[in-house]
Amino acid sequence: MKPFHPQQLPITGIPWDALIPLIGRANRSLAYYDGILYGLANPRILLSPLTTQEAVLSSKIEGTQATLGEVLKFEAGETPAQESRVWDIEEIMNYRRAMRHAEEKLKARPFSLNLLKDLHAILLNGVRGKFKARGQFRSTQNWIGKPGTPIEEAQFIPPAPRDLNVCLDNWGKYYHVDRPDPLVQLAIIHAQFEMIHPFLDGNGRLGRMIVPLFLFEKKLISSPVFYISAYLEKHRQKYVAGLQGLTEKTPDAWARWIGFFLSALDEQSRENARKAQAIIDLYNRLKKEIVDLTRSQYAVPLLDCLFDQPVFTSALFDNRRGMPSKPMVMNMLGRLKKEGIIKVVREGSGRRPQILALTKLINICEGKNVLK
Ligand SMILES: Nc1ncnc2c1ncn2[C@@H]1O[C@H](COP(=O)(O)OP(=O)(O)O)[C@@H](O)[C@H]1O
Ligand SMILES: [Mg+2]
Repeated sequence: MKPFHPQQLPITGIPWDALIPLIGRANRSLAYYDGILYGLANPRILLSPLTTQEAVLSSKIEGTQATLGEVLKFEAGETPAQESRVWDIEEIMNYRRAMRHAEEKLKARPFSLNLLKDLHAILLNGVRGKFKARGQFRSTQNWIGKPGTPIEEAQFIPPAPRDLNVCLDNWGKYYHVDRPDPLVQLAIIHAQFEMIHPFLDGNGRLGRMIVPLFLFEKKLISSPVFYISAYLEKHRQKYVAGLQGLTEKTPDAWARWIGFFLSALDEQSRENARKAQAIIDLYNRLKKEIVDLTRSQYAVPLLDCLFDQPVFTSALFDNRRGMPSKPMVMNMLGRLKKEGIIKVVREGSGRRPQILALTKLINICEGKNVLK
């Protein structure tokens, strides 16, 4: 097998007929989701655990095992027993950092290949990224296959390093053109990126990170918060088969891939809308409850902290702006515990502090009751 030569973008000759209903549906669902997003005063804080969940699932597609609960507990100071889990968590936290970095940068200037390299450097910062040309496009040949298989048995061999510049240049330009349907354009951008596979590692995660960034830049969503990975993880085989099918370079293979991707956007828009709404409802309900319970001017800032970091120790509130004295915080937390609003997930002992959690929020993000 020789290295693959991706087609030049734009792709022509795609049979549209079958795609039109899907395009309509995906656009409607996305607009509905954006309506909810638009109404949020602070989507970054309120949807912060969903962002973490996206990082977890996007990483899981390629085999990391850490769960949302483990990541959040780690942030609160509980280290998992296995060292490899710590590395998983490190990369998941990097993923979130990279997303936030992109969000900031996009306020000032459009997406670029340089930003992409910066995101790669952030994502692979740490133990596992050491030998992976962090922050640089690759200068060696890579291949996709079962772990440990030689290149002769590869499932897919991305372009040779010397062809990368041309491929990336074409890809980067296509990213910024105005196509009649940006969702189809995004389907093509994601797939083409995976086929170019410009980095030694992290291509899958960066390709999925691009989804919210692109939607935001095209003004289809009012902040760069969109979670696609749950669908791709659930339909992992179809996802990979769709990408692999593109090696045929036929219009039909593209139509199949685009159809799959539009379904992902449609279903995830509805899922994101449902979860975002559930989170808003929870926030509003708790706001009322906590204000009634504590009659304190600090009730809302405290609640915001809990949404930002729903698994925590009382140290979370130390030195936070707008927080009262430690005894007062402890008093408020005591009341919330008594009412069952927050729960103990690890008892304190000796110098180990107690870990508490806003379990309802985590359960909404996970879509099931993982913490009681
Ligand atoms: N046959 C294929 N052709 C093109 N891309 C593929 C194929 N199979 C998998 N991929 C993509 O490659 C990604 C894995 O590449 P990798 O660089 O290891 O990314 P990460 O480390 O973020 O998981 C998958 O998540 C998928 O997006
Ligand atoms: Mg990988």
